Order: sequence, then C-alpha cells, then structure tokens
Amino acid sequence: MPPPLRHLLPLLLAAAAASTAAAFVLEEATVESIHRAFATGELTSRGLVELYVRRIASLDPALHAVVEIDADGALAAADRADAARLELEGAALPPLHGIPVLIKDNIAAAGDGSGRLNATAGSLALVGSRPARDAGVVERLRCAGAVVLGTASLSEWCNFRGPRIPAGWSPRAGQGINPYVPSATPCASSSGSAIAAAANMVAVTIGTETDGSIMCPSSFNSVVGIKPTVGLTSRAGVIIISPRMDTIGPICRTVSDAVHVLEAMVGYDPRDAEATRTASRYIPKGGYGQFLNIDGLRGKRVGILRKDFFRFAPGSIQEKVFRDHFNTMRQLGAILVDNLEIPTMKVINDAVQSGERALMLAEFKLSLNSYLSELATSPVRSLSDIIDFNNKNPVEERMAEFGQSYLLQSEATNGIGPAEERAIAKLNKLCEEGLEKIMRANQLDAIVAPGASAHSLLAIGGYPAITVPAGYASNGVPFAICFGGLKGSEPMLIEIAYSFEQATKVRKPPILQHSVI
Ligand SMILES: *[C@@H]1O[C@H](CO)[C@@H](O)[C@H](O)[C@H]1NC(C)=O
Repeated sequence: MPPPLRHLLPLLLAAAAASTAAAFVLEEATVESIHRAFATGELTSRGLVELYVRRIASLDPALHAVVEIDADGALAAADRADAARLELEGAALPPLHGIPVLIKDNIAAAGDGSGRLNATAGSLALVGSRPARDAGVVERLRCAGAVVLGTASLSEWCNFRGPRIPAGWSPRAGQGINPYVPSATPCASSSGSAIAAAANMVAVTIGTETDGSIMCPSSFNSVVGIKPTVGLTSRAGVIIISPRMDTIGPICRTVSDAVHVLEAMVGYDPRDAEATRTASRYIPKGGYGQFLNIDGLRGKRVGILRKDFFRFAPGSIQEKVFRDHFNTMRQLGAILVDNLEIPTMKVINDAVQSGERALMLAEFKLSLNSYLSELATSPVRSLSDIIDFNNKNPVEERMAEFGQSYLLQSEATNGIGPAEERAIAKLNKLCEEGLEKIMRANQLDAIVAPGASAHSLLAIGGYPAITVPAGYASNGVPFAICFGGLKGSEPMLIEIAYSFEQATKVRKPPILQHSVI
C-alpha cells in the first residue's frame, strides 16, 4: 500500500502562500519553489520539463551526467500533471506532483512508449533490455506525482566491473565530469545523479549506494545525499550489488528536497519483502517532513571519531572549516562527544579483511541473475552472458585497459556457502563491536565524519547517513559533512542535517563555463 503521500502538499502550499510571490528561477529551484510557481500559474510542469531538457542539452555534452532522456514520455506525464492540477485546484495533489526526476541508470522504468528508458548500469550489454514493470521506487515516485525525465550516468556496474575503471566512467555515457573542478573526480558510483543536481539539470535525482555511492558523489558535487537504512526503500527492479548493503536514496540540492523525495519512496514492497517489511517499522507516523526542524541540533549527542576520520593537514581549509562547523553545532545546542575511536576501523575499511568483498562477489551474481531473469526481454540473461558480451564486443574499446575482474570473480562464486556465511558472521561482529557499541556506550544520536570517509562503517550494517555540503578545498573541490547513525535513525539525522544546513548554507552552484539557457 502506498504511504499517505498527500499530507506534505498542504504544508508546501502554506509555505507558498506565506512567502511573497517572487518570479520563478530555475537555478537552485527547490520542490517548494516549483510548487509555488505551479500554484501561481507562473510555471507548468510541461514548461519545467522543457526548461530542464534545454539545460541538459546545453550542459550535458560537457558533463556527461545523463544517459538517456525520455522527453516525449516526460512531456506526456507533465501534461497529465498540469491537467490534474487545473481540475483539482491543488487541493489533493501528491507531494512531487509534476516534478521532473532523473533516476540512476541501474533503476528500471518500464514507461509506455517508444522512448522508454533503458536501465543498463552503464553497460552496452543491457541496451534494449525491457523491464516487465517499474522498479518499486519508480512506482512510488510516479504515485507521488513525479515525472520520470531520464537516467543519470554512473560508474559501470556501480563500480563493480573491476577496480581499475575511473569513478563516473561507463561505456554508455563516457566520463562524468565534476562541474566545480573538471579535472577533479566526480566520485561515484551515483556520479551522474550528483552532477545533474549540482549543475541544476533537474531538482531531484535518485542514486543508489552499496558502499559510498551516494555519500561520495554528493560530497564531491556539493549536494545533499540521503543513504537510507537498508530496506527503507525497495530494491526491486534495481541492478544492485548486495542485498545486505544496497539502498536507494535521493540526491538533491537541499535537505528538505531530499526529505520530500525520501518520503515518497519509502515503504513495504512485496517484491523486496523481507528487507522492506523489517525496515518499514522505522517509518515514523506523520512522515519525515516533521523533522525539518530548524532547532534540530539542540540536545543531540554527536560522536566525533577523531582519529579514524578527521586527519587533515595542519592549517588546511578542512581543519579550519570543521572546527568552525563543530563550534556552530555546539552553539546550536549539540553535545559533541570527541576523540572516540573504533578499534577495528582498519579491518572495517579493508573490504578483503572484513569479508565485505567476498560477500559482495557472491551477492552480485545472485542479484544480477535474478534481475535479468525478471526482464520482459533482454539481449543478455546472466552475468556469464555479460562477460561474453564484454569479451566479444569491439565497442568496449577500454576493455583491455580496465578489465572486468570483479565480474569474473563474481561469476566464479556459487551462492552463499560456508565462506560467505563466515564473511557475514565477521561483518555482523564488526558492526556489533563497532558502530553499535560506540553509539550505545556514549548514548549517541549520530556520528559525524567528513565527506564519505565513514562509508564502509555505515555500509556493512545497512546504516543510514545524510551528507550536507560543508566547504570547498583550496583547489575549489567541494566536500561534505556526513551524519550517520543506527538503523532507522533517519528522523534524528534529518533534524541534525537540516539544522546544520540552515545554519551554514554552504552550497554554492558551480560556475559553469558554458552558455546555458
Ligand atoms: C533504449 O534503447 C533502444 C534500443 O537501442 C532505443 O531505440 C531507445 O531510443 C532507447 N531509449 C531512450 C529513451 O533513449
């Protein structure tokens, strides 16, 4: 059953009515400013889709954030949204009504016309494959009124082709480019989603994370990423690596936009039954919007794993920026518990030692073969077909350079056997003696870390995190602050992240070298 999606819109409309009418500005537009412009009749959903399509056409040749656009499908959906708005006069419209969204290229959207999107995880092997139906999260997004505009680029196979491929590169989209500093990494694997949000190609994007793939690109592209507790969002119809660790989440420019999108996506899905049933008990009554609390840092106990994560050169910008941010957080009433340490952090950060890699290799083959078997039509039906495709296909010209060692190692696995069970037991122990223990012993509401540095700590237990823009290094490359916590702690993390964002407002749009619309 869809969650109660409708309760947000009255809030948004009240906000719209309260503020003075200002002309709609596409740059840095939020879900709220878009709704305001819809409500005054200044903007239509069709008009917004056209603006974003033009902006993508102008910027994407340089940034490679988008794989496909389904302009016809999006315009048709926008027209339906515009017609419904006129007919219902705003009263009962869902929270993302008429808002365009880009989804990462590993998320299936069945669509209906000839322009339907291909979900390919960046691989040419999957072009022309057709899902039988929308991914669970896409169903929910459409139900919340969102208009699926296209797919965002990524590292091929979400970084799981092999260790040598560059972050943000895929055969389908080429190399994704950091809009702040083109020579810097965009980080990955949800690079296209983060670049597109950063460069205002759309307000709302969806990414996925196994271990770092939402947090890291959000950090390097100065946008907000929410990596939800595993199971809060359904993985059905998504090409994932690990059911233990994979989660689908929003990448947007503001915490409130990301929260509106999270709200639209969470909930039980019979096609990802076990994980979504377990996690759905974390969904708060009244939804997540109520935690957009400007005073949200007050009384929160936030742990600083100083030695593990805050290692900056003395005198560096990062050192000063985080000192200032911690002071701001204290002034806003947070209790910072400093100099904490997780003794097993070195093992946690080593995928081979922790057991993470072994489990991922086995889980990827199972997940991918299951995804492929559910497609209505597909040129490939197994990981082994994909490896053959890569070996034979001359278009995969960077094959020799980048290899496909993870795909090959994954193909050599044979389900969850004794070795994988041992890996699972080890990961569980690292979680219990790591994050769980330190949170409880210090009665923490959250931990704080720079950028995506805590990605493995949070990945191995399926824990949630929110990254918020925190600063820009001396070379102009953005970096984030990350708040993470135990499973289901999204309400706490949202309060902390929103309060921090509103007090600091660090995000600046990139200065782009191209003429745009
Ligand atoms: C999906 O792939 C098919 C086959 O190559 C192509 O005809 C179609 O245009 C693609 N869809 C989009 C939205 O680009």
